[in-house]
Order: sequence, then structure tokens, then C-alpha cells
Amino acid sequence: MNEVQAGSAATPLRVAIFASGSGSNFQAIVDAVRSGALPNVSIELLVCDRAEAKVVERAHHAGVPSFLFSPKDYSDRAAYEKEILAELAIKQIDLVVLAGYMRIITEILVEPYAGRMINIHPSLLPAFPGLNAIGQALAHGVKVTGVTVHFVDGGMDTGPIIAQHPVVIEEGETEARLTEKIHQVEHRLYIEVIRLIAAKLVHVEGRCVRIAKVNSKAE
Ligand code: GRF
Repeated sequence: MNEVQAGSAATPLRVAIFASGSGSNFQAIVDAVRSGALPNVSIELLVCDRAEAKVVERAHHAGVPSFLFSPKDYSDRAAYEKEILAELAIKQIDLVVLAGYMRIITEILVEPYAGRMINIHPSLLPAFPGLNAIGQALAHGVKVTGVTVHFVDGGMDTGPIIAQHPVVIEEGETEARLTEKIHQVEHRLYIEVIRLIAAKLVHVEGRCVRIAKVNSKAE
């Protein structure tokens, strides 16, 4: 896998966020950059397939440019993915961050961004991949679920795992409450992983991801 090269003091890590919905993760990342909690990171682009999504409004307020597209305007997935890839090249994007992007991504995007594209998933993978992971966990009756951040490969939530954090499911917990708890964890975990990548502390060795221990925060 390629590894992220940018992110030094002189060259901030140029990030594109892909999202389709509410964008609470998008917001958390943008806020962290603004507050200085995410140094050496620059959010250069939102890629979104739904012009009416709340994340588009958030990007507008944050002054982040959006690349909006409607899949039905294209002959097939390859056609719009090629256009997205061209946009990523124009913006010189170093890292693609998927945050609730509800479309399958093919090798057209995955290959050029191998080792430089990450996703957040609301379960402890490999448990409950795919859609409605929170509902799947509740229906299965597990007592602990959580959040995973992983590199994107060709499969459905199958790439090398960078970080995970557990979330306990209380007796009688509603899906709404569990979703809220998971979101809170997601916002912290995603920022921490992006911080580690920008600091070039994340290295992939086959299926395993190694986090270099430069300081106590790099665990
Ligand atoms: C998150 O739960 C994330 O794990 C999943 O999609 C959801 C996006 O939420 N991939 P938001 O749009 O960031 O609020």
C-alpha cells in the first residue's frame, strides 16, 4: 500500500471528505482543524452524492468547497468515479476520508488511493459489516459494540484496521441512544486517526496497521 507522504509543517495533509448524509463526522473534523486539535491538516473538499444532504450546508458554512454529483446524471459508476478522481487530482488530495458516504467505491478510486483512503464504521469489525451496523448489533444481542476506522480496500468494510473503540450496550438501550453514543466515540476516534496519519505515524504491514510510538498520544 502507498503511504501518506504529506503532513509536515510545511505541507499540511490535504484531505477530501466523502459524505452523503448528516455530516456530524465532517463537522467534528472541520471543528478540530479550526480549534487546532488537528494540526497540519487542511480540509480541501467535500464530495457528496446528494445535493440536499445536511453535510452540504455544513460545508458551505465552513467554507469548504463541495464537489456535488448526482449518480443518475452519469451512464455508470465508473463515469462519475473518474470525474471524482480528476477532482481529487486537481485539489492534490493526500487523504480521502469516508464519513457516511453511502456508495460503493470501485478500484477506480480505491487503487490510486490505496493506503490513503480511510473509512469509519459503527461496529467492531469484522462484526456487522455493511448497512445498519448498529441495528445489526442490537438485533444480534451483543453486549459490546463499537467503532472501527480502517483503510479502504476492494471489499465491504474489509480493509486493514487502524483503530477501534468499544461501546457498551446497556440493558434496554434504544437504537437512537446507541447511535448517539457511537457518534460521540466516532468523532473522537476519527480525529485521533487523522492526527496520527498527518504525523506519519501510521504504517501498514499486510493486514496489520502499526502505530509508531513517538509520544504517549501515539498509542
Ligand atoms: C457514521 O455512523 C459512520 O460510522 C457511518 O455513517 C455514519 C455517518 O454519520 N459510516 P454522519 O453523517 O457523520 O453524522
